[in-house]
Formats: sequence, structure tokens, C-alpha cells
Amino acid sequence: MLFLMKRVLFCKVEQIYSFTTLGKVRSVSTVKREGCFQKPSTPVAKMENIFTQIPELKRSHIHIRDIKQVEQKIKDLSQGNHEKLQVITDFDYTLTKSHLNGTRCTTCHGVIENYSRLPASFREKQKQMFEKFYPIEIDPHLTVEEKLPHMLEWYDEGHELMLQCDLVKQDFALMVQENPTEFREGTSALLSDLNQQNIPVLVFSAGVGDVIDEALKISGLMKDNVKVISNYMEFDENDKLIRFSSQLIHMFNKNESAVRNASYFQELSHRNNVILMGDSLGDLQMAHGVEPPSTVLKIGFLNDKIEERLEKYKDGYDIVLVNDQTMDLPHAVIKMILSSA
Ligand code: TMP
Ligand code: MG
Repeated sequence: MLFLMKRVLFCKVEQIYSFTTLGKVRSVSTVKREGCFQKPSTPVAKMENIFTQIPELKRSHIHIRDIKQVEQKIKDLSQGNHEKLQVITDFDYTLTKSHLNGTRCTTCHGVIENYSRLPASFREKQKQMFEKFYPIEIDPHLTVEEKLPHMLEWYDEGHELMLQCDLVKQDFALMVQENPTEFREGTSALLSDLNQQNIPVLVFSAGVGDVIDEALKISGLMKDNVKVISNYMEFDENDKLIRFSSQLIHMFNKNESAVRNASYFQELSHRNNVILMGDSLGDLQMAHGVEPPSTVLKIGFLNDKIEERLEKYKDGYDIVLVNDQTMDLPHAVIKMILSSA
């Protein structure tokens, strides 16, 4: 009986963490099926501790390569006081949902794309570009070097198209009113807690800063502890859009962008406890500017091409959330850290 109970416990643990032998890439379903026959690499007693503190970690769509390391990082973050913590988060498909009722949500570029004042031809071209380039961005078989020229082409063509649209500064508030961004469930509660505790939040995005600012404002999320680093537009004296700022932030150069924004990180040099949230492997570089020695707990949202990318996400992110459109887990972790700090 005791043997059976232990067996059941191992099965559950294996299913949650999808342990693999020999680090092979395997599909989620295979991993889950075979999991019952493998021994977990971390003692169950150890896990019970963190599970008790953060029961949300038990959910079956949450994947962790190294539970011991996660436990240690959460312990380190909990031991630091509030003054040591900062949050760095991506915007599109991280603060915002990637899907809603089976339909893809818009990115901040998509908000511009859907603006009613712009011609249908603009919308059509932007849509075509998304359909062409987004699959390249998330292709698990291409290297960053192979993706890069396509990503740059995407930005070049997209920006060129926008510059032809006679946009003015005031359009950005209007387009966000027309197409409010779908923030993940629980984003407002999470940001409100962080604001109350004066924890700095950096929104670090390869999207469009002007849209992000308006989207945060309209949802009441643009608080004084929130800073946005993104691609901003430049306007002439009549508020007409004339160009994008020269230093492009794309999905795979967030490390260089962090260096360019060194002053932000220097000001927070005493805050070397970091919660990082992203949906792309490029987002892992967002904490590049944080002063060492640092503890960075990385939480990744895996929204697309799940089976093909899960192993790589587990390599890069400490905690991977598969097809989760909420902030439940990050909020639970942050609440735990703030309550014990
Ligand atoms: P993020 O850094 O906030 O995630 O923003 C980058 C996302 O922007 C990227 O995953 C794809 C999206 N994007 C568009 O939707 N349309 C575009 O034209 C471009 C260049 C990017
Ligand atoms: Mg993103």
C-alpha cells in the first residue's frame, strides 16, 4: 500500500515537472506518459516545502527543469528586503494575453494596424507581414542569426508603412481606446501590489512605446514605479509622426538595449533581486543591465509551438507556464516573497 502511494506521488511529480532522461527533446504528451517510470531528480520532501508555500506551482501546466534551483532563488529573493527587489517584464504576450477564446490577441503593433483611421490596405499589409514574420520569430529550428535579417526586414517595412500614414501624436490615445490591449487576468492586481510596495517595474519591449504608454494609462497601470523602455516615435512641431527613434529594440537585442539604458539599472544598482517575465527566449536578456551579483528568477510564458519549444524554454526560464493567460503564478510568487521579506 505504502509502495503504491509512493508510486502515485512520483507519478504526480513527474507529470508536473516533465522530467526527461538524457535531456532529450520530447513532446509534452510523451513526457507526461513516460514520467511515471522515472524517478524525480529532487527529493519530494524538498518540493513539498515550496509547494506548501506556493501551491500554485503544483498546477499541471507549469514546468520546471530544476526545482532545487527555483526553491533556492525564491528563498534568496525572500531573504532580501523590499528595497532589493525589482521586476522586469516584456510587454506583448507577457503582460498581455496571446490568445483569447482561441483567437490571437493583438500586439502593440496590431493596435496601430487595427486603427479605423488607417486604410484597409495598410491593415492588410501589416497582417501579411505578421503572418510571414511571426512564424519565423518563433521557429524552433532557426538560430537567432538566421532569424535576425527577417526581423530587421519586418521592422523596416512596418515602420516605413506607418510613416506613410500621416499619424499624429493624438492618434495613439484614440487607437488604444478603439482597441484596448488585453492584459492577462490579474495584471492589474499584481501591478497594484508592486506599486503599494514601491517595487520598480520595468516594461522592456520591442514593440511601440507610444502604444504601450497609452495602453498602460487607459488601464490605470501607468504608476510612478513603472518605467517603459521601448521603441518611441518622434513627432514634429505639429505633432506629426516623422520618424522612429534611431536605436531599434528588437526581439533579440534586449541585452544591448539594456546597456544603452544603463542609467536606469545604475539607479537601481542596489536592487539585484529580480523577477523577470517574458514570452520569448530573447527576453531572457532583459536583466543584462542588473548589477551583479544578482538573483534573477525567470518566469516564461510559452504561448505558441509548445511541444517543439518546451525544452529550450525549460533551459532558459526557471519556471515555464504553458498556455497560461493569467498572472496567477507570478503574483503568487511575488506575494510570497513580499510577505516574507
Ligand atoms: P515585445 O518585446 O513587447 O514582446 O514586442 C515584440 C513583439 O512585437 C514580437 O513578438 C512580435 C510583435 N511585432 C508585431 O506584432 N508586429 C510588428 O510589425 C513587429 C515588428 C513586431
Ligand atoms: Mg513578447
